Amino acid sequence: MTETTATARTLTTVGVVGLGTMGAGIAEVLARHGYAVVGVEKDEEALARGRQYLEHSTARAVKREKLTEAEQAELLGRISLTTELSDLAGAGFVVEAVVESMELKKQIFRELDAIVAPDAILATNTSSLSVTDLSTATARPGRVVGVHFFNPAPVQDLVEIVRTVVTEDTVLGEVKALVEALGKNPVVCGDKAGFIANTLLFGYLNHAVAMYEGRYATREDIDAAMRYGCGYPMGPLALLDLIGLDTAYEILETMYRQGRDRLHAPSPILKQMVTAGLLGRKTGRGFYTYE
Ligand code: CAA
Repeated sequence: MTETTATARTLTTVGVVGLGTMGAGIAEVLARHGYAVVGVEKDEEALARGRQYLEHSTARAVKREKLTEAEQAELLGRISLTTELSDLAGAGFVVEAVVESMELKKQIFRELDAIVAPDAILATNTSSLSVTDLSTATARPGRVVGVHFFNPAPVQDLVEIVRTVVTEDTVLGEVKALVEALGKNPVVCGDKAGFIANTLLFGYLNHAVAMYEGRYATREDIDAAMRYGCGYPMGPLALLDLIGLDTAYEILETMYRQGRDRLHAPSPILKQMVTAGLLGRKTGRGFYTYE
């Protein structure tokens, strides 16, 4: 057994900060693989929403016969929910999945740095912000990494591990082993907005929006073309609704600012839809309307 595998197995308590779609999904995956998870949200209302995400997603897994009811109860029993970051004192690995605000993420990492043990690993699920920049909010930049899960986290098998120029090799090994222990495939990349998958994916998604905006084809036909012609599980506009148009806009904008590749210059209608509150599935309306 390699040293890194041993580390992943001896890690028992892990933390997740932020229980939105991604955070709750990550907490579910960790608990499903036997880890005791402490999930933190900013207030009781957000905590209740996080609990609902967890219950809803695991109920879906039961319905799809991926979990038994007994396993669902065990899984949920391994997650404790709190509004206090200080409850993460015993965690050896903490991942934050709050909104894409560098200021907020830095604030959380600054506080976590003082709470967790000096050898604990601090990870961020950011899609496009600089992990290096975020690591400077701590006294342990070598123990900070990106762990980028994909939506829906319980289903998608990829995790991008983002290493900065100062991430320690042992930390990278520990995080890789953890991702493998979760049954996911880790890929490693440098700290550049978009990482591997979003850099490739979002140019395509943005192009689909431009095609829709230019009335070149209907939303249904754009989506059908990619599903039936190219074998994608869902079309680009339906996928944007799943990701959330606000999140998609932020990712494109950040990539565009960093790389100046016009592929990533957000299509104007995306911004208009975000301003109008059409954020996709989470608000009931995006390119499509949801019950
Ligand atoms: N735990 C375990 N398995 C679960 C589950 C859970 N909580 N919930 C659902 N599943 C399983 C189902 O059992 C089903 O498995 P089988 O196919 O073996 O039966 C599978 O997941 C699919 O679930 P559903 O049948 O309920 O749903 P679906 O067939 O309509 O697929 C989808 C939905 C998984 C979203 C699929 O359409 C898909 O993969 N779409 C593409 C998603 C994608 O591209 N995500 C990446 C977005 S980009 C991103 O996330 C990065 C970022 O930074 C924003």
